[in-house]
This record gives sequence, structure tokens and C-alpha cells, in this order.
Amino acid sequence: MRVSVILAAGEGSRMKSNKPKVLHEILGMPMIDYVIEATKNSNVEKTDVVVGHGEDKIREYFGDRDITFKSQPIGEGCPYGTGFAVMQTLDSFHDNDTVLILNGDTPLIRSDTIDELIKFHEVNNFSATILTAVLDCPYGYGRIIRDDKARIKKIVEEKDACQKEKLVREINSGIFVFKGKDLKESLKTLNTDNTQGELYLTDAIESLSREGKEIGGFKLKDNREIVGVNSRDNLALCTQIMRERINNDYLINGVTMIDSKSVIIEPRVKIGRDTVIYPGAVIQGTSVIGEGCTLYGTTRIVDSIIGDNVSIDNSLIENSQVGSGSKLGPYAHIRPNSKIGKNTKIGNFVEIKNSNFGDGSKAAHLAYVGDADIGKNVNIGCGVVFVNYDGKSKHRSTVGDHAFVGSNANIVAPVKIEDYGYIAAGSTITKDVGEGQLSLERAKQVNIDGWVERKGLKK
Ligand code: UD1
Ligand code: CA
Repeated sequence: MRVSVILAAGEGSRMKSNKPKVLHEILGMPMIDYVIEATKNSNVEKTDVVVGHGEDKIREYFGDRDITFKSQPIGEGCPYGTGFAVMQTLDSFHDNDTVLILNGDTPLIRSDTIDELIKFHEVNNFSATILTAVLDCPYGYGRIIRDDKARIKKIVEEKDACQKEKLVREINSGIFVFKGKDLKESLKTLNTDNTQGELYLTDAIESLSREGKEIGGFKLKDNREIVGVNSRDNLALCTQIMRERINNDYLINGVTMIDSKSVIIEPRVKIGRDTVIYPGAVIQGTSVIGEGCTLYGTTRIVDSIIGDNVSIDNSLIENSQVGSGSKLGPYAHIRPNSKIGKNTKIGNFVEIKNSNFGDGSKAAHLAYVGDADIGKNVNIGCGVVFVNYDGKSKHRSTVGDHAFVGSNANIVAPVKIEDYGYIAAGSTITKDVGEGQLSLERAKQVNIDGWVERKGLKK
């Protein structure tokens, strides 16, 4: 069986954070989740995650997702290090299993690379295989030390390396494959005799090679896959690389970006072809954008479903749906739980919350629609407010098809306006309005002749 182990118990002190390192996000998703996804999409059958520092927060994040955790004891007197972390998983694999080890802080690894690495390991029957990379700037990584026949002898950590070793540019990605039995045997040989006083997994390599076992080195084609996150600048670099990876995938698959460097698309988003995205757009969570849409400016779409041919200008849409052919913005705000129909128009400074807004309906300027069910082809005038809150509770209002709500009207919930109900501008509506009725709620206009002159106001 092929088993994988993800190491995520470290403190991550270089992040200077209250949050466990592996929960730091890259484009809205914790880095460890990228590693888990990569293993799930590879030929590995089972994955264990070793947790320690911030364990509660990590378990809480994953909730009831199907992940097996192993706890690494943390605290005074406990050993520390990647070797000790792997020791927590000894009952997770058998002698004849192939064991893949990944670091929770190396989020850019691809499932294809994992599969190639495992294949290389198995075909060559190596005792262990290291995924390595040759970097221009190897600083901070463990160096791969080979003998004069280019056979891998050991890995030396940056902090333990001599001047000559520091010059080596081939580095350890932290990703390994071991034969189960050899891993078990070599873990027994680890000691803390190093600068950091840790049990290094990397020392298992030297132990195996001393016994005459052959170690494979699988060199990466794309070095950007193994950027490890130890500090915030590494996190920024990973974010940049992931953004490029995601955006380039869309460019290849028919999405246009005017400036792909300034568009943020999170990993779980889906976007249809012929959609055009202008600079500044942020598309987050599980959002799905249809075909032929246009997103302008600083539009942000969170966990929402957008139909085809929708145009959105500088607007925020959260946990909602927007039907095909609709036009939103500039500066519209669709708050959670709203369902906007097809071919609607939601214009400047319109806020819609927890409402249904039927096909063909319009709210073109300056309105608040909260807790309302708006039918089809309704016109919501400028400045209309659905007064949904009485200071204690929220109430719903309903507006039927083809209704017309004049400018600056207040609809004091709960109220029902039936189909073709017309509300005069400026009215404060507190009672239901029947089908086809005009409802006018305002004082009669009085014009007084000569009033200004009599008051001596005329110059
Ligand atoms: C490690 C490797 C180094 C490699 C680099 C690649 C060792 C000794 N060094 O160094 O050769 O070039 O990764 O990025 O393995 N962890 C635990 N328990 C612990 C300590 C760490 O689970 O007790 C986890 C961390 O959460 C992290 C991973 O192991 O996900 C790596 O630990 P880290 O301290 O970041 O190792 P590096 O110094 O980066
Ligand atoms: Ca690291």
C-alpha cells in the first residue's frame, strides 16, 4: 500500500504568529489543505497528518473531514524535529508499504510530481528517494551531499553545514519516499547530536546509505513547487506563485484577464469561458462564475453563483446567486442569502440582503432591499428603503410581479404589495396593497400664493 504522512506539528516560530503555521492561508486556503489535496489527487491511498503545536486549531479547521491525525507530544522534555514527528506514525504503515513524507509547509507540490516521484522510487527499488531541487539561492534548506560517484550520502541542514557544504546548490525539498521497513529501521538510529538538538528525519538518509542502501534523488523540473514557508516573505512568494498558477490555468481555458497579475482567484473557484476580468477583481471561496461575464474594477465575489453574461462593476457579492444577463453596479452590495433573478439591473449604491429579486426587476439607484421577496419585472425606485427591522426583530415584505415602488418610499415590514401594486413616491407603506391599486401615503400638496412676498423675503 502507498501511505503518506504530512508533518504539521512544528511551531513555525519564524512566522511570528498566534496561529499554527500550516493554517496560514494562501489565497484563502490554509497551506496544509493544498498538501492534503495534492495527496488526495495522487496515487496515495491513505494520509496521516502529524499535529502538535496549535493542534486544537488545526483539528477544528478540518472539522469532520475525513483526515487521520497523529498527535506529536509537545512541551518541555519532549524531543522535537521532523524525525520525531514521523515516529508518531509508526503504526500507520507496514514494512512493505511505500511511505511518502511531505511537509505541511510546502504547499505548492503537485499531485503529478508526487506520482512521478513514487514511480521513480518504486521502479528503481530505492531504499529511500528524496525530491530535490537545484536552487540559485539554497539558503535555509538542507543540502544534498553526494559522493564522487554522485551517490547521495546524507543531508546536511543549513545550521549544521560547513562552508563547503553551504556551497552545494542541490537541496532537500522535505518530500521523501521510503520503503516502510527501511524507514522504521532508520528512525531508530536518529539522535539529537546537531546544532538544533532535534531528531532530524534527514539523518535517516545517512543511516541508510551507511548500511549500503541506495538512495534516489529525483530532481524537480519546476523549482517553484517546493518553496517552503518558514516566514511571511515565503508565504508571499507562495501566494504569488499560486496566483500565477491558477490564473494561467484560466487563461489557457478561455478566460480573459486584462492584467492577470492584479486578479485574485482562490483555488476552489470555477469560471466559465469568455468571461473577461478587469484588474482588481477578487473571486473567493466556492464561487462559480458563468460564461461570458464581465467583472470590472474592485469587484469581490465570495461563495456566490453567477450565471452567464452577467456584468458586475465594482461591487461586492456574498453568499448569493445572480441570474444570467443581469447587470450589477457600480457599487452594489449583495449581502448573504440573496437570489437575484435573470436580466435584472441593480445599480449604484443598492444594497440587497436576504432577499429574492425576480427576473427582469430593477433597482437602479440608492435603495435598500432587506428581507424581501420581490417578484418579476418590478421597479424599485431611487431611495426606496425596505424597513425590515423594528428595533427588536426582522420582518419580511413581499412585492408582486410588475409592481412599481416609487422613489423614496418606505416599505415598513411586514407588508404585502400584490401584482401591479403601485406605490406613490415618498409614501411610507405600513399596510398591504392590493392587486392593481395605487397606494399614496403623503399629505396633500398645498401651494400658497404670494406667501414669500408677504413674509418680506423677496429682494
Ligand atoms: C526541513 C528539512 C530541510 C528541508 C526543508 C524543506 C529537516 C531536519 N529539515 O527544514 O532539510 O530543506 O524542510 O522545506 O527535516 N515538524 C513537525 N514536528 C517537529 C518539527 C517540524 O511536525 O517536531 C513539521 C513542521 O510543521 C513542518 C515540517 O515538519 O511542516 C518541516 O519543519 P521545519 O521546522 O519547517 O523544517 P525546516 O527547517 O524547513
Ligand atoms: Ca520548513
